[in-house]
Amino acid sequence: MRVVCIAAECEPWAKTGGLGDVVDALARAVGATGKTGEDTGAVAPTGTRKPRVPQSQVWVGTGAVMGVGKGEAELPGYVEPPVDVFLPKYRGVVAPDWATSRSLAVPDPMAETGTTDVTLVEFEDRGYRVRLIDHPPAFDREGFYGDADGDYPDNGWRFGLLCRAAIEALLTDERPVDVLHLHDWQAMPAVVLRDCAYQAYPLISRAAVMVTIHNLAYQGWLTPDQAADMLFPDELKQALEPRSKGMLLLREGIERAELVNTVSPGYAAEILRPTLGVGLDAALARLGHRFGGILNGLDMGVWNPATDAALPEPYSRAEPAGKATCRRALLSELGFDPDDAGPVLGMIGRLDPQKGFDLLAGAAPDLVADGARLVVLGSGDPSLIGGLSALAKKHPTSVAVIDAFDRDLARRIYAGADLYLMPSRFEPCGQGQMIAMRYGTPPIVHRTGGLADTVEDVDERPIDGTGFVHSAATTKSLLEACRRAVSRFGRGGRDWAGLQDRGMAIDWSWESGPAEQYAASYRRAISLRRENRPTP
Ligand code: GLC
Repeated sequence: MRVVCIAAECEPWAKTGGLGDVVDALARAVGATGKTGEDTGAVAPTGTRKPRVPQSQVWVGTGAVMGVGKGEAELPGYVEPPVDVFLPKYRGVVAPDWATSRSLAVPDPMAETGTTDVTLVEFEDRGYRVRLIDHPPAFDREGFYGDADGDYPDNGWRFGLLCRAAIEALLTDERPVDVLHLHDWQAMPAVVLRDCAYQAYPLISRAAVMVTIHNLAYQGWLTPDQAADMLFPDELKQALEPRSKGMLLLREGIERAELVNTVSPGYAAEILRPTLGVGLDAALARLGHRFGGILNGLDMGVWNPATDAALPEPYSRAEPAGKATCRRALLSELGFDPDDAGPVLGMIGRLDPQKGFDLLAGAAPDLVADGARLVVLGSGDPSLIGGLSALAKKHPTSVAVIDAFDRDLARRIYAGADLYLMPSRFEPCGQGQMIAMRYGTPPIVHRTGGLADTVEDVDERPIDGTGFVHSAATTKSLLEACRRAVSRFGRGGRDWAGLQDRGMAIDWSWESGPAEQYAASYRRAISLRRENRPTP
């Protein structure tokens, strides 16, 4: 089975958010599955727990985990390493010494001659093959998707070029592709091209497409003119009819893919309803059992307090004492009193309305009055944390707001805080809550999407709860959960240690399930393609 991923981000080369982490980890994990021909999850260390994801929802439509539809044969599960990952070569992306480069002529509706030369920069690293599309006019820009003025108006052309260059590169490989795994709207031009431009090229047209939606809020809308910069007139005609008002790339992906998934079962169920479906709920519902959720894994090696070089002292589930040192160091670093035993609540994230920083700003004055301290690390639009910044000015020894993207400080917060906040209005999966549990820092989360799938409220489930869950995306509901958390923290003792330990015991690894679920989905997508491929 030959798997090819196309994405706009992949850590460590290009990342603005969780998408980059997931594309990298998935490429490694799926490739590793292939190396042995089976699940490499091996034996989980004794005492570890599996996340209690509601398995019955993994594929929403069928109620079965990776349910196989009528007539769909099971295929052998060998994923051929290495997996390919196509990525734009944005400004600042540096390829290693061993990378090779070659020029590729790519059909391009924007080019006067009809083709544009791009450079394909290729190298193997981390167990997969990175294939960077280098074309400075498209990708050597200030931002990945836009700048201070908003999204780049030619994103359709830019990501269309990425996808077409990827397909052209695959044609030069002369090895058939079994699965094109496309992440988010930026990769959707690839499935439009498969269906409208490359039907006569079996190396591509035979490929099954799996679409993964990391965030339904971003859909890639193109006006007819923007679509015409991406597709030649005859392709456009096929693609747009009967919808000629423009092109919604994510909708194209949903309607053309063999399988579509999102990154948690909970979010999969939510986006089938109009409230969170952002206009695509009906299109998703039409997929039936071809749509579902697979919970993201967490790279347990990258996120491990026992080996984390950013921490002043390592610690682990077996030897948790170092967490106290991390806490003292963090408090000193922030200018807080390290001897104050009162609760310290941390929050980290992109400054996006989705994340609920404003809800925290609403709850913060009461929390501070109760004696709690807050540390907030966020990058993006600082106006979203105006309220918190003002509070930090007023209470410099109990509220810290850092407007930056600082990987090491983020790690010190996961380790040094007592509680971790994630009041997201919606959350496709979320990674912070898993990291926090791994670092012994119980999370306080809104009951939504992947957060609801991964955190169990300890007041509702005293024996196996792992955090605190608030039922509404309101300041009041968040404050109520924070107060429950703070009061349980204050009681401390074995009860608190047990709560921390249960979170630290969970095996979130890709090998514990998600990698195999993707491999199984690929097999299923292939057999669906075999059945349904239109004869050219
Ligand atoms: C997006 C989602 C986030 C998810 C990540 C990786 O950033 O907002 O919830 O964890 O993608 O799939």
